Amino acid sequence: MSERFDTVDIIRVKRDRGTLSPEQIDWTIDAYTRGVIADEQMAALNMAILLNGMNREEISRWTAAMIASGERMDFSSLGKPTSDKHSTGGVGDKITLPLAPLVAVFGVAVPQLSGRGLGHTGGTLDKLEAIPGWRAALSNDEMMAQLADVGAVICAAGAGLAPADKKLYALRDVTATVEAIPLIASSIMSKKIAEGTGSLVLDVKVGSGAFMKNVDDARELAQTMVTLGKDAGVNTVAFLTNMSTPLGLTAGNAIEVQESVEVLAGGGPSDVVELTVALAKEMLAAAGQPDADPAAALKDGRAMDVWRRMISAQGGDPDAELPVAKESETIVASADGVLTKLDALSVGVAAWRLGAGRARKEDAVQAGAGVRLHAKPGDTVKAGQPLMTLLTDTQEKFERAKEALEGAAVVSPQAAGIPPLIIDRIG
Ligand code: URA
Repeated sequence: MSERFDTVDIIRVKRDRGTLSPEQIDWTIDAYTRGVIADEQMAALNMAILLNGMNREEISRWTAAMIASGERMDFSSLGKPTSDKHSTGGVGDKITLPLAPLVAVFGVAVPQLSGRGLGHTGGTLDKLEAIPGWRAALSNDEMMAQLADVGAVICAAGAGLAPADKKLYALRDVTATVEAIPLIASSIMSKKIAEGTGSLVLDVKVGSGAFMKNVDDARELAQTMVTLGKDAGVNTVAFLTNMSTPLGLTAGNAIEVQESVEVLAGGGPSDVVELTVALAKEMLAAAGQPDADPAAALKDGRAMDVWRRMISAQGGDPDAELPVAKESETIVASADGVLTKLDALSVGVAAWRLGAGRARKEDAVQAGAGVRLHAKPGDTVKAGQPLMTLLTDTQEKFERAKEALEGAAVVSPQAAGIPPLIIDRIG
């Protein structure tokens, strides 16, 4: 079959800061999915997009073409509103775990398609797989049945949803082209629009542990995604939230599940509770319930009830003991003072090197590995007091994890201002 366009011409357009036509974009995504465009050509095009950008029309068409590469799900037969949340990824970001059951308490269905961790940011599926018996892969029918019965499901996206993105994302990951706003926005929004959620709340992370290192870039990414969502009929809002320090007191798999269960039991670290409640309020408002009180549903056990049913429905035992790492080492404060910095990226890399994350898609993760924090920025500490505990099954992993943490924690004689967790709301 003769092809409509020549790939080299298309790369040249973007290399020379030109604009791709809608037909060129449709063909590019389709031809790459069919294997007509080679990985090295797509890598060159991605790099040209990263360096030279895309205009609004190009991003919108690129997203639509990625949606069209696969199936679209439809939850309209459920007879209840649907709402979803997506985070751009961070360190210690376990918010999906308490959030999905919490929102379902109010009769809003939460179809949460999640991913695995790659690099220093953790993956929701890896965390939940620390629960003995829990299963990430569900068929579309199983997902629908669980949404109708329990109201919340966290599972892997099926192979049929935005297959172009699966190929593109794997390529971007190994060609240093993840951090391009048009590519991130189209990747996330193609999956969310194809999933068919009625409303969507985006948590766009800003800081050392996030893809977006400064507020201006994060704002542009958030605005781009909100526009794409609204144009597709999905009621979309975005929060910009701080990722310069880890969320909560844990970064890993089993230890993040444990912390999420504490939040569902009405306790847990204040930053995790604050963000969970803020995102739940926004999801419920977007689904037509502006007066719902999610904080009360965490305190009185209603969210915990849905969590237990959600885990059981996917084969997990909510009462099972979680795996514990075989080895641990503690890092202590070097002086008396106030902890003024605890760097998210360093903690994320340390947790990853301890075995909580994977370097390649096919690697296994250690359920018990990670970093447990004993202090957060703003806390007063004494010399010799434990700052963090490193956890792994593999003794040899401590050395490189400790290297990642050099300079990560700063103890100062005087307190410094703590930036707010929620920086802005765009909607
Ligand atoms: N998450 C995604 O799904 N895609 C990206 O490009 C970045 C984060």
